[in-house]
Amino acid sequence: MVSSPILLDFQSSTPCLKEVVAEMNSYWMENFANPSSKGNLSGLYASAALEVSRNKIKENLNLINKKIIFTSGASESNNLALFGFARNFQQRTGRNGNIITLKTEHQAVLEPLRQLKKEGFSITELNPESDGLILEENLLNSLRDDTFLISIMLANNEIGVIQPIEKIFNICKKNNITFHTDAAQALGHLQIKSFDSLANMITLSSHKIYGPKGIGVLIIDEDIQLNPLIYGGGQEFGYRSGTVPLPLIVGFSKAIELAIKNQERNSIQLAKYRDALMNGLLKKNSKILINGSIINRLPHNLNLTVLDINGSKFHKYIKNHIACSSGSACSNGKVSHVLTSIGRSFKEAESSVRLSIGLTTTAEEIEKSINVITETINKLRK
Ligand SMILES: Cc1ncc(COP(=O)(O)O)c(C=O)c1O
Repeated sequence: MVSSPILLDFQSSTPCLKEVVAEMNSYWMENFANPSSKGNLSGLYASAALEVSRNKIKENLNLINKKIIFTSGASESNNLALFGFARNFQQRTGRNGNIITLKTEHQAVLEPLRQLKKEGFSITELNPESDGLILEENLLNSLRDDTFLISIMLANNEIGVIQPIEKIFNICKKNNITFHTDAAQALGHLQIKSFDSLANMITLSSHKIYGPKGIGVLIIDEDIQLNPLIYGGGQEFGYRSGTVPLPLIVGFSKAIELAIKNQERNSIQLAKYRDALMNGLLKKNSKILINGSIINRLPHNLNLTVLDINGSKFHKYIKNHIACSSGSACSNGKVSHVLTSIGRSFKEAESSVRLSIGLTTTAEEIEKSINVITETINKLRK
């Protein structure tokens, strides 16, 4: 019998928690009404359930002066934040200004910005330092008179580094610039007292935190104005038309509640296994480089480059035993833009691997993974 590979790819997605599934249960077949159908009792009940979920998210994230817009996930939230804000700015001011971002952002930020460039906006893509972090000084030096928006992620999806978001937001406030952050990878993994003071616009996704797929939020300051991406019935304050997926929203709000409540305990557990994996691999193998700052880092992320091996053979061998993400997986076989942005060569990026730990990961799986990777490295270096 072939055993299924060990899953070390929890940054790409997570399974739903049973409490989340239980919370969604009655919304599939019984309470299926459309929250916009307020003319009947079932619709009114659904509408109330929608607002209960929205308020629960506000409470758990400590949001006071913010609006929550439900979207299909972090990709859509990023698109809505960037296109919505930039196009509205253009309409209001009659100008195409400058937007600053980081080269290591997710494609769901970089691609909308490249599209905005075609629409006449100026886009600055800053380089991070070799540890993956942005230098405050570099951001300050890149500011222009016409910079109106900065988008920098809280935690990186490939190398797990945590950007100095507080400092960045302060720079934005001082310079009257709106700040958006993609916090999809950070939620539930960092102690964030108040999401209110993180940024003017915040992107979150449910399936990264043991919630259902296909649901996310864009959280915005009350006074932010966005042009919608989807026009229609005017749901979600007119920012995102379309019938809201109530079961997913109910599940997402439960997942947020649990992610916040258990954040400290979960982070300790995840970091313990991540550190065991890292230390085991470094002890048994030479010439392994850790990608990204080890200090300012998500507890469940490990990204490493194995020197002196053939990258494609390495991935071919380990994929039978470990489900993980390669340095080229994220963008259709292209080499990771994150790894090359922090100074890795194409060859090094190819022999890199992202290993991300989940709540179901066991000590035995960590031990086995260390052995499989070590045996593969030894075989390839012979
Ligand atoms: C940082 C970041 N932003 C955006 C996304 C896209 O998220 P979604 O699948 O919810 O659209 C991901 C998912 O990989 C991510 O890690």
